[in-house]
Amino acid sequence: MSVVLRCFIAIELPEALKAALHEAAAPLRAAAPGIKWVRPDSLHLTLKFLGSTPEERVGAIGSALSEVAARHRHFEVRLSGAGAFPSLRAPRVVWLGVSIGGGGELAPMVSDIEAAMEPLGYPRETRPYSAHLTLGRARDLRPVEARKLAEAMEAMKDKVLGGFESREISLMSSELSPGGARYKALHKAPLEPQP
Ligand code: 2AM
Repeated sequence: MSVVLRCFIAIELPEALKAALHEAAAPLRAAAPGIKWVRPDSLHLTLKFLGSTPEERVGAIGSALSEVAARHRHFEVRLSGAGAFPSLRAPRVVWLGVSIGGGGELAPMVSDIEAAMEPLGYPRETRPYSAHLTLGRARDLRPVEARKLAEAMEAMKDKVLGGFESREISLMSSELSPGGARYKALHKAPLEPQP
């Protein structure tokens, strides 16, 4: 029987940074315990969600991803501030802000990934890419918690939370379980070093 995986493409974070971000986000968790917070070891930066993927397609996706990665250089990821989609009043996704060193952008690489995945059966994302690092997800958060969360976010608005040099992009699998999703890297595609 064919095994179907739930896959996505992401930038993984160094372990020390995950711990630092978890620590930095403590006031947000305290403000809104009703949010389902991502476990620190699961923090990652999603580039594209693929969804259902037959296991036998993993090799082709990995090869395509390596070709994309070879066309892009290492880059500095910086994390600062926090926010929520779709709004602070009614947050569904709580995130940390992401920017790229040297005024760079992730969008061109994401667009390259979209183009490489399309022939493999993954339709292009129609919404523009908006870089963010998901910290937690909520459904019907109580207004009092939303208000406290917005205050805690405001307090860390311009705070620099850390950064790292990204040297690879990863094809990940996500296994859903009652304790939260478990992520595993199936393939790591190295980016080109800076000249
Ligand atoms: P996020 O980082 O923007 O929250 C693994 O599940 C990752 O894929 C999540 O971190 C999430 O990205 C993204 N993801 C999960 N389900 C998705 C869906 N149905 N559509 C788009 N992205 C999804």
